[in-house]
Amino acid sequence: MGAPASSTTATVFAVVASAAAVLMCGAALARAQDMDKEWARAPYRGFFGGPGSMLPQSDVDLLEFPLNLEYLETEFFCWSALGYGLDGIDANLTGGGPPSIGGQSASLTPIIRDIATQFCYQEVGHLRAIKQTVRGFPRPLLDISAANFGKVIEQALNTTLDPPFNPYENSVNFLVASYIIPYVGLTGYVGANPRLLTPQSRKLVAGLLGVESAQDAVIRTLLYERGMARVSSYGVGVAEVTAHISDLRNELGRRGVKDEGLVVAPGQGPEGITVGNVIAGDHLSLAYDRTPEEILAIVYGTGNPSQRGGFFPQGADGRIARSFLV
Ligand SMILES: *[C@@H]1O[C@H](CO)[C@@H](O)[C@H](O)[C@H]1NC(C)=O
Ligand SMILES: *[C@@H]1O[C@H](CO)[C@@H](O)[C@H](O)[C@H]1NC(C)=O
Repeated sequence: MGAPASSTTATVFAVVASAAAVLMCGAALARAQDMDKEWARAPYRGFFGGPGSMLPQSDVDLLEFPLNLEYLETEFFCWSALGYGLDGIDANLTGGGPPSIGGQSASLTPIIRDIATQFCYQEVGHLRAIKQTVRGFPRPLLDISAANFGKVIEQALNTTLDPPFNPYENSVNFLVASYIIPYVGLTGYVGANPRLLTPQSRKLVAGLLGVESAQDAVIRTLLYERGMARVSSYGVGVAEVTAHISDLRNELGRRGVKDEGLVVAPGQGPEGITVGNVIAGDHLSLAYDRTPEEILAIVYGTGNPSQRGGFFPQGADGRIARSFLV
């Protein structure tokens, strides 16, 4: 596999430096800490009978939260691969939630469409798995429009792109857009695991985590192969864009570096040895964890779990997400 060029490595240095300077501040952080304490103090907030199960309320909340991301992944992968979303696959699973904004069939090579189709149905399975365990909620309003993905990329690159970035335009753009989504879910499952109280919940989350991280690895591998390819006509390579997207997520999440591009500064790769970074991980190559607050701040694109927007124009659903939307 080709070594990344030094210009990319230089960019990554800048990215790492700016990520380290991120401010930990504000009401959102205080709120997050309160919530952490609440979970630690009062593990059993009563019982809630999900379909065929009795789980503590805190497990129910933690299992329902990722439905938001699973709905988002389902809609993006299914629309991209098939030209329709959940309504065209199993309308029941939407729970009557509104159709997504801006989904379209992507222009993909046969192999990428094949993979995207598999991801689509994997996400449908994940929705079923969660809803067989907890009641859940209807699909929230999701904005998967080209314009919304374009905003994320422009925010990450801190520039205006002409023509605007369009995730549905070709396979490279689709893969770059895909880099944005399953990784966030993955870190959420890692974060949720130690807070779960029952083996049944932990088994479900381990199963979801395994496949989400496998999806992320497939996306990253395909992007790594294309590391030096230009993204559309912009003078920026794939690896560099991933570093900027990861940097943006670190900034929005406000809890330091939990996200790394495909090429990192020497010292940041596995065992501090490689600059190639096909899979993200901490200094022991363990997956990073994120809290629901961090995830909401990222998927809203606002850096604030109380300020909805981005992929969730009306906010995410479930007790945890709604507790921030007062
Ligand atoms: C949708 O739900 C209804 C009512 O629960 C059920 O009768 C129907 O078979 C379901 N359809 C599918 C496709 O699962
Ligand atoms: C983004 O770009 C503007 C103007 O081009 C610049 O002033 C600003 O410092 C940049 N922000 C970051 C975080 O690099």
